[in-house]
Amino acid sequence: TGNIISIPVVVHVIYNNANENISQAQIQSQLDVLNEDFRRTNTDTSNRWSQAADTEIQFCLATVDPNGNPTIGITRKSSPTTAWGTNDAMKKSSEGGVDPWNTNQYLNMWVCNLGSGLLGYAQFPGGSAATDGVAMSPQYFGSSAKGTGFYLSAPFDLGRTTTHEVGHFLNLRHIWGDGGCGVDDFVSDTPASDGPNYGCDSTHVSCASTDMVQNYMDYSADACMNLYTAGQKARMRAILGTGGSRRSL
Ligand code: ARG
Ligand code: ZN
Ligand code: CA
Repeated sequence: TGNIISIPVVVHVIYNNANENISQAQIQSQLDVLNEDFRRTNTDTSNRWSQAADTEIQFCLATVDPNGNPTIGITRKSSPTTAWGTNDAMKKSSEGGVDPWNTNQYLNMWVCNLGSGLLGYAQFPGGSAATDGVAMSPQYFGSSAKGTGFYLSAPFDLGRTTTHEVGHFLNLRHIWGDGGCGVDDFVSDTPASDGPNYGCDSTHVSCASTDMVQNYMDYSADACMNLYTAGQKARMRAILGTGGSRRSL
């Protein structure tokens, strides 16, 4: 265990219609889920895994912008684009998007319709600063358990997509390592798995062990996920610590 690490977040909302221009309350519900999930204060912690951990990493909407002025940590832009895909255009003003705030100081989140049923995507540590951060579609950003009238789509309406993408942003791989039983996620306390789990089959066995379908880095439904492990905590904190490429955050 160490000190609590707190990461400033800016949310760039890029919308084509009123639904996509999600409310500040919906955005706050996502920040609340992120903090609950990373600090393991989420209420749905029931499962068989003793290695579940409080990562001691938390998030706050930025209160100071890159010019030193007060901010609520949210930018908004109307756009004619209806589906952004995953080519990083939303991160470039030259392509109709919004440039990131200094990626050494802020975790940038773009909320815009990715299209094609895409929930979100992330850039791993070590990539280009110009495109660093995470992107989520608005209907998967926030939690319907924390307010009414939000623009969200079940079964991905509990904010776990952003928990998952921020895991990637902090160097976590999918728990099946994006390959078969011989491919690792570089975390020793997540059991080996041969592929993603969807839904919530908590008895599914692969690679001679029960899959950890409750892990945020599987593909399970939001209501199924509820943990990061001590090993994942160590991997995330390493990238944020001395010698880690995200230490400036
Ligand atoms: N497919 C996405 C990715 O690999 C996100 C999956 C999120 N899963 C969820 N239950 N919200 O980054
Ligand atoms: Zn993923
Ligand atoms: Ca593992």
